[in-house]
Amino acid sequence: MNQPFIRIRLMSEEDFDDVVRIDQKILGVSRLEYYKLKFELLFKSGEYLPTSLVAEDKDGNLVGFIMGELYIGEFGISREGASIDTVGVNPDCRRQGIGKRLMTEFVEHLKQLGVQKINTLVEKEDARLMNYFNANLFSPSKAVINLERSI
Ligand SMILES: CC(C)(COP(=O)(O)OP(=O)(O)OC[C@H]1O[C@@H](n2cnc3c(N)ncnc32)[C@H](O)[C@@H]1OP(=O)(O)O)[C@@H](O)C(=O)NCCC(=O)NCCS
Repeated sequence: MNQPFIRIRLMSEEDFDDVVRIDQKILGVSRLEYYKLKFELLFKSGEYLPTSLVAEDKDGNLVGFIMGELYIGEFGISREGASIDTVGVNPDCRRQGIGKRLMTEFVEHLKQLGVQKINTLVEKEDARLMNYFNANLFSPSKAVINLERSI
């Protein structure tokens, strides 16, 4: 595989437009409101440690991101309380190892903060995302089951 030059860094508030643009390119619809709330929570509330990362190409263009939550409660960081909300790589730049680089650095960063488990929710039908998480050593939880009720 031809690995491009990629720099991974912490996400900042200024990345908002690029993140929304990549997400829209992936999903075909804009989730502006979702990201407004998300950015406000992560960057303004002071209740979360910065964990989200972005990937930039050699020209400084944002080509991917991973957004996580690590809540700092009254008792400090919860070792099992980190989660991944969203991961996205520009469709033009896929299968070049960018998603893997993002995940590796995300996990390393959380490990250094004392986190021992990371959770995420994936739709079973989404084979690409399931493969991606499997390739990054995620497996179905033995402790938690997702309950639902149609109404
Ligand atoms: C999943 C995703 C992040 C992978 O990014 P990527 O940079 O292409 O991933 P990588 O090149 O690092 O691939 C890592 C591994 O994931 C798996 N994988 C990635 N894309 C895959 C695909 N299309 N089909 C099957 N497996 C895939 C493979 O095991 C791959 O390893 P390999 O290339 O050595 O076989 C990217 O496809 C994406 O953004 N998908 C859309 C996610 C989404 O829906 N986000 C919005 C809502 S959460």
